[in-house]
Amino acid sequence: MAKQNLLLLPGDGIGTEIMVEVEKLIAHLNSTGQTDFDYDSGLVGGCAYDAHGAAISDADMEKALAADAVIFGAVGGPKWDDVPYEARPEAGLLRLRKDLGLFANLRPAICYPALADASSLKKEIVEGLDILIVRELTGGVYFGEPKEIIDLGDGQKRAIDTQVYDTYEIDRIARVAFELARTRDNRVSSAEKRNVMKSGVLWHEVVTQIHAADYADVKLDHILADNCAMQLVRNPNQFDVIVTDNLFGDILSDAAAMLTGSLGMLPSASLGAQDATTGKRKAMYEPVHGSAPDIAGQGMANPIAMIASFAMALRYSFEMIELADKVEAAIAAVLDDGLRTGDIMQAGGKKVTTAEMGDAIIAKL
Ligand code: IPM
Ligand code: MG
Repeated sequence: MAKQNLLLLPGDGIGTEIMVEVEKLIAHLNSTGQTDFDYDSGLVGGCAYDAHGAAISDADMEKALAADAVIFGAVGGPKWDDVPYEARPEAGLLRLRKDLGLFANLRPAICYPALADASSLKKEIVEGLDILIVRELTGGVYFGEPKEIIDLGDGQKRAIDTQVYDTYEIDRIARVAFELARTRDNRVSSAEKRNVMKSGVLWHEVVTQIHAADYADVKLDHILADNCAMQLVRNPNQFDVIVTDNLFGDILSDAAAMLTGSLGMLPSASLGAQDATTGKRKAMYEPVHGSAPDIAGQGMANPIAMIASFAMALRYSFEMIELADKVEAAIAAVLDDGLRTGDIMQAGGKKVTTAEMGDAIIAKL
């Protein structure tokens, strides 16, 4: 087995605590001969700002570019509220996404049977939930230029963000969504706002063309993004794959995450284009939740989204499909046993710490 190189970027807040559980999992998989991972660590977010004055150093960016996969925790916290905008913790995450070319963000929302009661929606609405949000991650309004605040001189300012998409950006994310749909229930819902946005008009046009040309076997629906938000809480099981832009994907994926019972459950994978010669993709894996400064340092954080993100790395970067299935099954099994961190605690559950949850998942393996 060839050695695989990982870069771990725990970040801030609970990021460091949940990453410890991934390190334990890697140690277990390596020592039992199931994997041969080598890993290095780096700083990102507020801790990188404290050490280097930037949300990620050039040296750590080099490491990220060289790694087979980056495993990312979470960034941010009130401590860094007043740092310059360019150096804010989130800037490190955005630079990683942009410089690694991670245009495709996969955010599965699966409702584990044991957690159907933990959702804020009725059990019968979320039971069996298995949807995949494919979010465009390197374009749109988060990156478009101009992006600035102009002083208009009369006590007024003007803030400008630019929503911009080129054909190729829509084309490649649509293809990822159609390809993934073929491995699932073969249905794609494309969400945009073509009724008010030119970028929505082009999005609709390009997705329609790609579908007709290469993916006519996949069932395609177009849905306005606001209606999609409403349908997600009305009847989420109607969806299989949702493909959408950076901004709408950010919002819709938080809503979808909560359907599953807790933000602490949702993993994600961010993938770049396939290298023409090696066939490999740059990739980063991160939980959808943030750094949760309010509970950081107390051993309370739920490590499941982090561990499930690592399982996505096994699946998408290393083609260790069986092992990824095993890790996901271990997560489901500890939930069936009633183990709960605070965020998913229910009557009759056994409350556990971050470390106990991690240990229990490894024990199931
Ligand atoms: C996410 C987060 C980030 C985003 C923030 C931290 C910049 O909300 O990954 O969804 O908006 O993309
Ligand atoms: Mg978000």
